[in-house]
Amino acid sequence: MPSVEGVCLASPSRSGVFNKATDRRVERFTESVSFDHRLYAHDVQGSIAHAQMLAKVGLLSEDECRRICQTLIDIRDEIAAGNFELRTELEDIHMHIEQALIDRLGDAGRKLHTGRSRNDQVSTDLRLWVRDSLDRVDSRLVELQKAFVGRCDGDLDVILPGYTHLQRAQPVLAPHYWLAYCEKLERDRGRIRDCRRRVNVSSLGAAALAGTSLPIDRHDVAQRLGFEEVGANSLDISSDRDFVLEAAFTLSVIAAHLSTWAEEWILWSTTEFNFLKLPQEFCTGSSIMPQKINPDVLELTRGKSARVIGNLQALLVLVKGLPLAYNRDLQEDKEAIFDSFDTVELCLELAAPLVAGASLNREGIAAKLDKGHLDATTLMEYLIGRGIPQRSAHHLIGDLVRQATEKGIRLADLPLTDFQAAEPSLDKTVFECLGVDNVVAAFRSYGSTAPAEVRKQLEIWKKKLN
Ligand code: ARG
Repeated sequence: MPSVEGVCLASPSRSGVFNKATDRRVERFTESVSFDHRLYAHDVQGSIAHAQMLAKVGLLSEDECRRICQTLIDIRDEIAAGNFELRTELEDIHMHIEQALIDRLGDAGRKLHTGRSRNDQVSTDLRLWVRDSLDRVDSRLVELQKAFVGRCDGDLDVILPGYTHLQRAQPVLAPHYWLAYCEKLERDRGRIRDCRRRVNVSSLGAAALAGTSLPIDRHDVAQRLGFEEVGANSLDISSDRDFVLEAAFTLSVIAAHLSTWAEEWILWSTTEFNFLKLPQEFCTGSSIMPQKINPDVLELTRGKSARVIGNLQALLVLVKGLPLAYNRDLQEDKEAIFDSFDTVELCLELAAPLVAGASLNREGIAAKLDKGHLDATTLMEYLIGRGIPQRSAHHLIGDLVRQATEKGIRLADLPLTDFQAAEPSLDKTVFECLGVDNVVAAFRSYGSTAPAEVRKQLEIWKKKLN
């Protein structure tokens, strides 16, 4: 370790230009190892590919490369097993691993950083980490889709009120609700795929910002790491964090979807709605009110979306004022993106079993389906089918709804004479479109809640998820 004036300058990044050690407070302020230690396995993965490329172009001997790779694997395994000491004076996980390599191999270890800077190294590690994490989230999304699809057959007989403005609107089959969430999650998966393409670009070999005068092979190292492209501009790719922003955005949309689902199910599980019974293993009690069964998992799923969305905001603000190329500010990206992944993965892990374990309160739902004139729109469409212009039919049915509401009865309870007073051409077939069962059966448009349509979509989902 280089030593000047009896002071041990522990950091390998402190060259001979320094003759004073780093202030301890500065070490504490600038360290990132307390959080970027999570990158250790990806750092080793990146370093092995880099070493193999260096050997291929003749910058390392085969023997040096072999020893470096084996020692990196040993170090990785020691870190994984918790047998590796982390010290703030070594700033980050990248320097810890490199220093351990140097301690064990001497000069061979000192060659690993050839043609590379921590700027492209950090970016590479983070790209590898984000790539793996996106794949994990993607699998969790599929699990949640499977949980929703898994409910559908059992719930095909249930009609729920559908809402707009949280006011009763039209009847909807329960599986139509479940598949609605599958669609949202499928778009989330699409965003993951899109984002992954731009994550999957190699920055290694961009070095500090300008590239290197050494004969490295960036395409070789990219291929070894499974990157599909090589960043074409060293200035850009050494400091690019668009991929972090995109991942944070993708996770924010997932968090927002989970939050709306959580909110809906919190409402549905209230005494007021009483549509849904949540699995008790996913509920908590109150320390003072013995009767309480609280939907805390759903509440926290809703609540945790705040930090995921906040992380996106923080990351955008972090990068918005940075001149090219690497700036130390970028070290601050890690905690935000780690937290977003951790939070979303945690929420998804609980969402799937919660969806599978909840049960619909069929009687409670059916008992109130007559409330709110869920059949008014289909009645209007029945009039349209008989040649009455939509605007006129809309007005006329509004009138009938008012009459029924004033009497405290359903549209189906109005006498035929009331319908005929509104529109003389009406006959008793009007009753065939009233009541939620008739309404649901009457739907026919593509993507609607018509039972045949929902069954068709359900089959498509089952195939897709198999
Ligand atoms: N710990 C730093 C980070 O994570 C390493 C960057 C080193 N680059 C530099 N130019 N100081 O961003």
